Amino acid sequence: MSDYRSEWLHDPAGLAAQMPAGFTMGVATAAFQVEGAVREDGRGPSTWDTFMAQPGRIADGSDASVTDDHYHRYREDVALMKELGVDAYRFSLAWPRIQPGGTGPANKAGIAFYDRLIDELLAAGISPVATLFHWDMPEPLQHKGGWMTRDTASRFADYALLAAQAFGDRVDKWITLNEPTSVTLNGYALGVHAPGATLMFDSLPAVHHQLLGHGLAVQALRSENVTGGIGITNIHSPVVPAKDNFTTRGYAEVFDLVHNRIFADPVLLGHYPKFPFLARKLFKPLIEVDSDDLKTIHQPLDFYGLNYYAPTRIAAGPPADDRSPDGTPAPGLRGLPFHLASFPEFPTTGFGWSIAPEYLEVTLKDYAERYAGVLPPVYITEGGASFDDVVAADGSVDDADRASYLAEHLAVAFASVPGLDLRGYFAWTLMDNWEWAAGFGERFGLVRVDFETLERTPKRSYRWLQQLIASRSS
Ligand code: FCB
Repeated sequence: MSDYRSEWLHDPAGLAAQMPAGFTMGVATAAFQVEGAVREDGRGPSTWDTFMAQPGRIADGSDASVTDDHYHRYREDVALMKELGVDAYRFSLAWPRIQPGGTGPANKAGIAFYDRLIDELLAAGISPVATLFHWDMPEPLQHKGGWMTRDTASRFADYALLAAQAFGDRVDKWITLNEPTSVTLNGYALGVHAPGATLMFDSLPAVHHQLLGHGLAVQALRSENVTGGIGITNIHSPVVPAKDNFTTRGYAEVFDLVHNRIFADPVLLGHYPKFPFLARKLFKPLIEVDSDDLKTIHQPLDFYGLNYYAPTRIAAGPPADDRSPDGTPAPGLRGLPFHLASFPEFPTTGFGWSIAPEYLEVTLKDYAERYAGVLPPVYITEGGASFDDVVAADGSVDDADRASYLAEHLAVAFASVPGLDLRGYFAWTLMDNWEWAAGFGERFGLVRVDFETLERTPKRSYRWLQQLIASRSS
């Protein structure tokens, strides 16, 4: 619990009055973080199953084999969403449930689970928003190199086709990839997420192959004439140099390239960004790519998904220690000539992330400017905060800090930014879940989950959002 408070905490109706007409309010989750049932109904192992079993990988030593048991309790969870009043639910399809070995025909039991979930959502009047890849790569494909292997892009398109054939008539929005940035940086460069590779700049082919997979998957979905819109989700963090000097500005520029631009530019502009002369050697794998690949990556999109949590401040000099934000070791950080510094002026979440809604506005303005004229409608597909929730004697959770985080970010999202058509906001996340390498240590949910009994209890943030949604006029 922190003492972060918004002026909207006691006036959700006042904030609702600022919501643009037709704005989508949603909640988001990801398969591996909520489903559990990892060995049921023919699901194959994923790269995260392997990773979480390795000693020292997960901060609290936990694993996601049960987590929220959403696989069996999805009806209860959809009922919670209905009571909350959201318009849409963003979830992910687990590739290893649909193709247990990463190739070949669809696993009927895997398809049947998502059929049940989608139908339950539609019956509740909630639009299904399906992410195809939220990090759980089938292990056999990881054995062949995962995203470091070009062939994985084609395998991903095959899987997208199966998903389109099964759910193309009912899914309202398709998101090909979730945060290729995080997969590359955390998974392939620093090794703090699955698959645990520590390739640093040698990980750049994973960028290109994910983006190629995105382009091929869009083509596969279109070839099946899916009725829903198609987009991609990336996380954007505005980058600020800690000092206004040549060196620090240079490091901040490189970080903006690796975190933001090398993902968004090819998708929206059809080319990789121009790399600073001194860094050209590092970015060679992205400079020498085939121009046909860039055409494939540059598919027309119906929307663009942005995840926004916090800005990044870059300071010169190596980090003081090699801990990742998850609390697990990331030795590669030591070799870097710069480090992530905190913003002294902002309060922080449980994860230590800066609470800075003004940088959501910076993000939206950056996009409007960088991608002027080519940016499709935008959805904030994730935003939220982890805090150390305090459970009262009666079981309730008064998370005024989380409600405040949402309020302040929604206030920014509701205000218009010229050149940007923002259509919705998805809160991360419906319920507490397994937060990757942080395990059960970081709670982001609007709903409290007791991981012993799996009991769900709406927190104050849930009630606050419910009031906001109930009081909007359209
Ligand atoms: C995002 C991920 C999501 C969750 C939140 C806190 O980067 O997409 O799965 O871990 O962060």
